Amino acid sequence: MLVQQHISLKPYNTFGIDVSAKQFVSVSSLEALKSALADKQNSPIFILGGGSNMLLTKDVEALVIHVNLKGIEVVEEQDKHVLVKAQAGENWHEFVLWCLEHDFGGVENLSLIPGNIGTAPIQNIGAYGVELKDVFERCEAIDIKTHELVSFSKEECQFGYRESIFKQAAKGKYIICNVTLKLTKHNHVLHTEYGAIKGQLEQDNITTPNIKDISNAVIAIRESKLPNPKEIGNSGSFFKNPVISKQQFDQLKENFPNIPSYVVSEEEVKVPAGWLIETAGFKGKTFGTYGVHKQQALVLVNYGGAKGEDIFELAKLIQDTVKRLFGISIEMEVNII
Ligand code: EPU
Repeated sequence: MLVQQHISLKPYNTFGIDVSAKQFVSVSSLEALKSALADKQNSPIFILGGGSNMLLTKDVEALVIHVNLKGIEVVEEQDKHVLVKAQAGENWHEFVLWCLEHDFGGVENLSLIPGNIGTAPIQNIGAYGVELKDVFERCEAIDIKTHELVSFSKEECQFGYRESIFKQAAKGKYIICNVTLKLTKHNHVLHTEYGAIKGQLEQDNITTPNIKDISNAVIAIRESKLPNPKEIGNSGSFFKNPVISKQQFDQLKENFPNIPSYVVSEEEVKVPAGWLIETAGFKGKTFGTYGVHKQQALVLVNYGGAKGEDIFELAKLIQDTVKRLFGISIEMEVNII
């Protein structure tokens, strides 16, 4: 097992932040992963997947274990469904493309989400009316203490909006090794209700879309408003959309008649954080090497050479300003390291 010393993590995080890892090992098999854990015993480790949901603000002292497990296979075929198992180190979007090639439906709305298979359950990735939990069957994870492989059902994962047990009670205790999804073989259930998808399909003159058309529509929408991390460093939505009481919303509406919202329940509504941040004047603001994206205020960007601490300071300034102006606390979605 090759443990590298003092290597830059810049290629391993989509924000493109240049911090270094004191020790770094990339594992491509369960055995290698177990042996890395055994060698480390109780010393701190840092698990790195696709690096798409983190802001690195300092050098990492712990041993970085880069989970590079690969492989996609159909593990069960039923009448209408297939169970597809993908290893944690597979790139999420490449997996979506593999599903489309095989005409397996369910993940097309989640096209172009950065990151790897192994991180998808942690924050229950979601976009355009679909969340991972809608197709999730189970995942297997290594218990960091006992090195045993444990299986988690959908219920056990306790999925919520950008939430799971892996961000709560199980945080830091497991390494997700593979994920099994239940996908449709035919009679795909299309989710076109999300406004932007409908508009994009109309613009493309598609009246009876298939899953590939939906994927293409999502790709076009995402490319038009979300920066490509290969060109501009970012971690997607930096904040979660806050949920507030209907009462607070009605009061805000008096001062801000255009405030958008999604119904959550009879008592609660979700407000797009992007709107709050834009209205607070941050959209497109640039502070030298970093700033707030021009097309989507929810996304903080590194134009090249930014420091994680600076982006973190900007995030805190945005939080404080939104709180002062609207009385709403917005929570960071990205993990601050
Ligand atoms: N809006 C603004 N200004 C902005 C951005 C958004 O006013 O700069 C308002 C508009 O009213 C717009 C509404 O917010 O109609 C919704 O915007 P959008 O459809 O872009 O969705 P979002 O709520 O901002 C969420 C997810 C995205 C996901 C999209 C589409 C969160 C935190 N973000 O964004 O997820 O792609 O919906 O489903 O829930 C991600 O998690 O990294 C991510 C990109």
